Amino acid sequence: MKPDLSGMGQAGQPAPPAVMVIFGASGDLTKRKLIPALYNLAAEGLLTDELAVVGLARREMSHEQFRQKLTDDIKVFATNTVDAGLWEKFVKRLYYLRADLTEPRTYERLRDLLAQVDRNHGTRGNYFHYLATAPKFFATVTEQLGGAGLIDQEENCWRRVIVEKPFGHDLQSARFLNRDIRKVLDEEQIYRIDHYLGKETVQNILVFRFSNGIFEPVWNRRYIDHIQITVSESVGIEQRGGYFELSGALRDMVPNHMFQLLSLTAMEPPISFEADAVRDEQAKVLRAIQPIRPEEVLSRTVRGQYGEGKVDGEMLASYRDEALVAEDSRTETFVALKLFVDNWRWAHVPFYLRTGKRLPKRATEIVIQFRRAPFILFRQTGIEKLGRNRLVLRLQPNEGISLSFGAKIPGPVVRLGEVNMDFHYADYFGAKSSTGYERLLYDCMLGDATLFQRADMVEAGWEVVEPILDVWKALPPRNFPNYAAGSWGPKEADDLIQADGHEWTKCGPESGVRNDRRL
Ligand code: BG6
Repeated sequence: MKPDLSGMGQAGQPAPPAVMVIFGASGDLTKRKLIPALYNLAAEGLLTDELAVVGLARREMSHEQFRQKLTDDIKVFATNTVDAGLWEKFVKRLYYLRADLTEPRTYERLRDLLAQVDRNHGTRGNYFHYLATAPKFFATVTEQLGGAGLIDQEENCWRRVIVEKPFGHDLQSARFLNRDIRKVLDEEQIYRIDHYLGKETVQNILVFRFSNGIFEPVWNRRYIDHIQITVSESVGIEQRGGYFELSGALRDMVPNHMFQLLSLTAMEPPISFEADAVRDEQAKVLRAIQPIRPEEVLSRTVRGQYGEGKVDGEMLASYRDEALVAEDSRTETFVALKLFVDNWRWAHVPFYLRTGKRLPKRATEIVIQFRRAPFILFRQTGIEKLGRNRLVLRLQPNEGISLSFGAKIPGPVVRLGEVNMDFHYADYFGAKSSTGYERLLYDCMLGDATLFQRADMVEAGWEVVEPILDVWKALPPRNFPNYAAGSWGPKEADDLIQADGHEWTKCGPESGVRNDRRL
């Protein structure tokens, strides 16, 4: 099936009849994202009436109680106004099963329930199982589903499994998990989700690069000086201390979300938008990332942990004071890296990545910093005063793209200002809210895995990160906490980029502009 990256093509066709089976249905993901996303698809006319949901979780609940719970939840988490009539039709197709995920009996009961749902709603034996459980259950659930015959595909029905992140804890565990789930599933049945790929602006990286003739010719080391990728979050770790203590910012964000952004930015044009054509190119980029040698880890990476800090007059607690966090925790809440992609296109172009919690604002941006123009016409000007063209892809919030360039400030004296060409999604396409999961669920039902990670991509990501994890573990940080909540991270992150004569670009609407550069 061809993906629809342009918003045309297959879009508009309702997904085929199916049952979505959600493991971990009482958790946050179900109420905040999955059900609102399904509802949005239904509202767009992209689901048929032959779509049902079976939720599984530990607690005792009847189908009716589950429906009532989700009816209450949708009022809070819907991204658009809920149409009562549509919801009423939808909610009747929700089912619940109390489950112990390690018990074979659970899967027998699930099989019986699915047969009944097939009969009631004409779902035709098409199932996609969504593993929204703790990762320790991923392999068990898959194995048990296999044992119960719930992932056997026949000619006229399909069976798929969506696996949430985190996919593994390090390289070895990711390999083991791939090995375990592939004992029972074919690669084509596995949909490893990375919710960043559900974001319109992330999908637009491909459209921007490959549907415009003017950018790709300069998208390489001859014209690009360096690239910055920032995923900055103003929130702390919220209620996830237990998870975050074991994960840390590096595992949580880098091999998955940030490497998606990096690979989409750096990949070669795929020969088509078929899933494997796109993923082959992404995988090649990930494999081309130069492994950081152990002796380089400390000079090419920065880790940080937030201490207390004041934001808008409010005092914010330090990471170590958050619930379920050790008093002397060494877990990083900030990371910055300098990477190189060793291929013809990107040789010697640094990619600077940074992400952190409790930074001053929420902003996900990719900055393409072009090289300076030759100076012939502006010989009298100090090099440092000449601006450089900068293309900023603002992925969230204030979604848009801006290109900065130099312009003459009107007046008798030649003065150069840096100005911006600015595109805002909201101005052109309105501000339609979505959960970011609509496209991913829809694609899974259509059998289009373009926006899902393949086994080799996941492992290639972990391969880059593994040496960093190893060195960081062997040499625990001594200076945590090393940045104040509400600041842009530890000073070392500035040093990392300044050592090469660059600065982190300010995030947000002003990211492209530096005005009034006098000649
Ligand atoms: C999740 C991480 O995968 O992504 C979180 O576990 C992080 O720690 C979140 O906050 C960021 O997602 P978004 O869509 O808010 O940028």
